[in-house]
Amino acid sequence: MFAALVTIATSVVFAVAAPASSLDARAGAPIPVPVHPILNTSKCMGIVGGVYANGTQVDIFDCNDSASQSWEINDGTLPGLSSFSSATTGTDVYCLDAGVPADYADGVQMKIWKCFSGLAQQTWNKLESGQIQLANTNFCLDLTNGDITNRNVLQIWTCTAGNTNQIWTIDSPQ
Ligand SMILES: *[C@@H]1O[C@H](CO)[C@@H](O)[C@H](O)[C@H]1NC(C)=O
Ligand SMILES: *[C@@H]1O[C@H](CO)[C@@H](O)[C@H](O)[C@H]1NC(C)=O
Ligand SMILES: *[C@@H]1O[C@H](CO)[C@@H](O)[C@H](O)[C@H]1NC(C)=O
Repeated sequence: MFAALVTIATSVVFAVAAPASSLDARAGAPIPVPVHPILNTSKCMGIVGGVYANGTQVDIFDCNDSASQSWEINDGTLPGLSSFSSATTGTDVYCLDAGVPADYADGVQMKIWKCFSGLAQQTWNKLESGQIQLANTNFCLDLTNGDITNRNVLQIWTCTAGNTNQIWTIDSPQ
């Protein structure tokens, strides 16, 4: 099962990998939607302080309909392979980013970074289980310590079936 998913993910990543141009800012962008931890769906994945910049940490906060809590699910229907880009109206579009692949490990904190099409560390696979798996890895987007306190920064952690820290719900576009 897992091996099959990885195979699919690999082929899709390669299909979109070159050239690594930045994503078109707004034209044709998907409708941005909130992403919630299953442990409290009144919380939303957002960016700390609503600051659009390379390296701003990605956290949870009370849902408040702000742009920085809205994510465009790109490059495919769910479940499937996607990047999660923020809904900034600025020039640069920022994506949920897991950092340099060589440094992937349990506990690496999530941030946003300028989106680059097909970049591995910005490519995620939304599984039927509700897990959001970093493409070509066994790491999943994880609510750190299962703590639903505002400003808890998200991390990656080894994907574990049934781990509620790793289960996310994504609203349908309105
Ligand atoms: C979930 O989050 C909301 C918004 O912060 C809060 O009002 C509510 O008490 C939380 N629920 C639980 C079970 O902690
Ligand atoms: C909405 O939440 C974001 C964090 O996701 C926060 O930076 C922003 O200040 C909040 N806005 C309001 C009006 O509370
Ligand atoms: C963010 O980083 C990218 C390189 O990864 C760079 O091209 C871009 O200029 C940076 N953005 C800012 C505002 O410095």
